[in-house]
Amino acid sequence: MSNELEKPKMMDYKRHMLVCVGPRCTHEGESEELFGMLAEKFKAAGIDNGEMRVKRTRTSCFATCKSGPIICIQPDGIWYYNVTEKNLDRIIQQHLVVGVPVEDLIYHRGPVCANA
Ligand code: FES
Repeated sequence: MSNELEKPKMMDYKRHMLVCVGPRCTHEGESEELFGMLAEKFKAAGIDNGEMRVKRTRTSCFATCKSGPIICIQPDGIWYYNVTEKNLDRIIQQHLVVGVPVEDLIYHRGPVCANA
């Protein structure tokens, strides 16, 4: 019997959306509800596979527990607050499809890379 662990596999992706589903930035499960919409919305926007694929992951806390839902888009280093469904649609169309961040929803940028 082999003791070697199986190496995990991951599909390629262009961007990674991290969604905080912790209890302190939203109180009524809004973030989890938002996360549940992503598969359908990504598919409709054509960013669920191929070169434009956006990977999505739940996180438990970013330690910025205000005015959620809060999401982070990497590797762009863009942090969004107040991500209602309407604002999510703006982020998908403007940022994830076209590549232009939605300025009025940004509360932080980073990390700042030394060689960027
Ligand atoms: S619980 Fe969401 S940022 Fe802390």
